[in-house]
Amino acid sequence: MLKVDPSSPSEAALRRAAEKIREGGLVAFPTETVYGLGANALSAAAVRKIYEAKGRPPDNPIIVHIASLKELEELAETTEEAKRLAARFWPGPLTLVLKSKGKVPPEVTAGLDSVAVRMPAHNVALGLIRLSGVPIAAPSANISGRPSPTRAEHVIADLGDRIDIIIDGGETLYGVESTVVSLIHGEPMLLRPGAFPKEEIEAAIGRPVAVPPFARGLGEADRALAPGTRHLHYAPRIPLILVEADDYGDLGRLAAAIASLAEEQRKKGKRVAVLATEETAPLYEDPAGVIVLGSRRDPFSIAKRLFDSLRRVELVADVAIAEGVEERGLGLTIMNRLRKASSKIIKLSA
Ligand code: TXA
Ligand code: MG
Repeated sequence: MLKVDPSSPSEAALRRAAEKIREGGLVAFPTETVYGLGANALSAAAVRKIYEAKGRPPDNPIIVHIASLKELEELAETTEEAKRLAARFWPGPLTLVLKSKGKVPPEVTAGLDSVAVRMPAHNVALGLIRLSGVPIAAPSANISGRPSPTRAEHVIADLGDRIDIIIDGGETLYGVESTVVSLIHGEPMLLRPGAFPKEEIEAAIGRPVAVPPFARGLGEADRALAPGTRHLHYAPRIPLILVEADDYGDLGRLAAAIASLAEEQRKKGKRVAVLATEETAPLYEDPAGVIVLGSRRDPFSIAKRLFDSLRRVELVADVAIAEGVEERGLGLTIMNRLRKASSKIIKLSA
């Protein structure tokens, strides 16, 4: 375990970790989104260790992290649009899926002919990639299916005994993963909403980004298109009920529905946690178990605490109930994660 200052990490610590990457080992490190579980992206044997440690299904490909635009050109066929997005938004929480040039082994791409690439906006991640001298393949550093880690403690809890080095850089900034956009089809397609709002991508390229149902957390995609959607994701160890509304103008109704669900569960002797927002928290008559994630006016604040809260509730409750939010900006990201994490969805219609 190497504890570092996230904005100016010690070079000696990064060198040790980089050495481990070059030897083919596993290093967990912070990015601006969540903690990643990194290995040398050019080594099939090293990347296989990632799948083993996480219990990751072998058909779910891994994002390659780079520290310079030159590496992008080496790994993928770039289009004008890809170059524009990379130049404008990297380093940052945006992942581009492009045609692979075949430099990374099939273990990274799960045998697809595309590769997902991003340049993280975090001095630990960038320093580690530079000092390693190789691109780093890194999925989120959680056991497959669990909420993504936003603190080193989450990584230790899930994978502590299966990793060579954990770099602790404190809590991550966004708390949700990068936005994944595919540029290999006719129209740009959102494969996973994330920390970067898709509205900004559209403004930069001057055309819409398609949002298929699976990107909203509804249903599964074809394996060749978005392999990750077919697997269990983000689930806490207790049942999670998500309550959605057609529109979120009437928060009183939403809170009332959740309060009565909570009461039903308590009568069965269950401890209940309600994942609420600043706007709704005062509407619950019984404040027991109400956890405030953030404000509906600032979905960033909700996203930031989401995974950490999913890991907290499983320690204090037998069942959790979450409020839905409007699917705009980061709200789309929050709803994707909540839908995929939930064991049951209740929809209040108008
Ligand atoms: O913020 C993030 O993206 C974090 C940090 C560590 O960078 N990483 C992360 O990785 O969230 P992971 O493995 O948990 O999610 C990667 C997603 C998966 O949904 C995967 O299916 C998709 O990216 N993906 C990777 N390569 C792909 C490809 N060639 N085509 C389509 N989807 C791909
Ligand atoms: Mg993940």
